[in-house]
Order: sequence, then structure tokens, then C-alpha cells
Amino acid sequence: MQEADFFKVVEKRRSIRKYKNREVPDEDITQMIQAARLAPSTNNTQPWQFLVVKEPETIKLLSAVAGGQHFIADANTVVMALANRGSSCCPGNPSMWHVQDTMIATEHLVLAATALGYGSCWVAMLDSRNTHNATLVKSALRIPDDVEIVALVTLGVSNEVPSPRSTNDIHQIAFSEAYGNSWK
Ligand SMILES: Cc1cc2nc3c(=O)[nH]c(=O)nc-3n(C[C@H](O)[C@H](O)[C@H](O)COP(=O)(O)O)c2cc1C
Repeated sequence: MQEADFFKVVEKRRSIRKYKNREVPDEDITQMIQAARLAPSTNNTQPWQFLVVKEPETIKLLSAVAGGQHFIADANTVVMALANRGSSCCPGNPSMWHVQDTMIATEHLVLAATALGYGSCWVAMLDSRNTHNATLVKSALRIPDDVEIVALVTLGVSNEVPSPRSTNDIHQIAFSEAYGNSWK
């Protein structure tokens, strides 16, 4: 891949919430997970795991418990991003490195989905802090206690062109040498 391609993918990625009635082939999902696998992690602990859900009834359950966000049910595939506390270097660390690691890997997966031409949307309404719903889903899908749900990622062939969204200017977010000194 050439450098320019990476920046194109980053620009192209948007949250997509409408999908065509088309399958996402397993080979493509494998490629996305392969990209996630290569993410950096605390002390190379690689605490992430991914549960691919294609069964429509399970996707409906996920849609219902993730704040009733109906678009989730239209996705062909939902990937659950999981953080295995047992694989974490420091499970009690308040920085929750296993969750941070998993989020980085999940963004690799999202960018790989974009590169392969799929739409995706990150959904955080079902993380493990939402105890009741998380427990319900974990029990239905046999997810062990020490494995936390970090995010859902919907996947499908996009059926929308999202409206432009506002993004912060580089001068608002980047500083030089001391906080508040604008990056030129
Ligand atoms: C951690 C995280 C949680 C999100 N949760 C949701 C969600 O529950 N539902 C949803 O529709 N979009 C969700 N999004 C997508 C954001 O709304 C979206 O990224 C943001 O509006 C910017 O739009 P863009 O992704 O098209 O650039 C989430 C994004 C992130 C990074």
C-alpha cells in the first residue's frame, strides 16, 4: 500500500448507518481482523478479541440492547470488540489499558473495512459499564465474565452518502512546545 492510499482511507471513513442488502464475505471480515491483530498494545499483551455476529436474531438483540438503535439491525454483520482482562498486563490499572488496546485494534478493523469498500459504524452504547444489557448479551453469547464488551462495529455495503460533518481545525488541537501555542 502506498502512503497516499492510507490518507485516502482515513478521509473516506465515515460512520455509515444505512446499508444495502448485501453480504460481507467472510474473507473480507478475516482481512479486517488481520489488520486489527497488528495493532500496538500495552507490553504487547494483545488483549482484544472479536466476535463476528451474522445471525439476524442476534443482531436484532444487539440493536435492542444498544439503546434501541435501529440501524444496527439493518447491518449485515456486527463485530463485537472484546477486551480480555485476563490477557491484560495490569487488570486493576485504572487506565484500563486492555480497553485502550482494544479500541486501537478496533479502529484498525474499521479502517480496513473502509479500505475494502465497506461502511461501518462504531457503537459504544453496549459497553460493559452498561451492566444489565452487557450481562444479558454476554450470557446469550457465552462471553466469559472477565471479557469486556468494548464496542460494536456494524458492517455492510453503504447505502448512504453521509452529510459533511464539522471537524476541528488543526490549530485548535495541535500545539507547539507549550499548551496553547498554536501549531503552525
Ligand atoms: C467511541 C465511539 C462511540 C460511538 N457510538 C456511537 C453510537 O452508539 N451510535 C452511533 O450511531 N454512532 C456512534 N459513534 C459514531 C460517531 O457518532 C461518529 O464517529 C461521529 O459523529 C463523527 O462522524 P464520522 O464517524 O462520520 O466521522 C461512535 C463513535 C465512537 C468513536
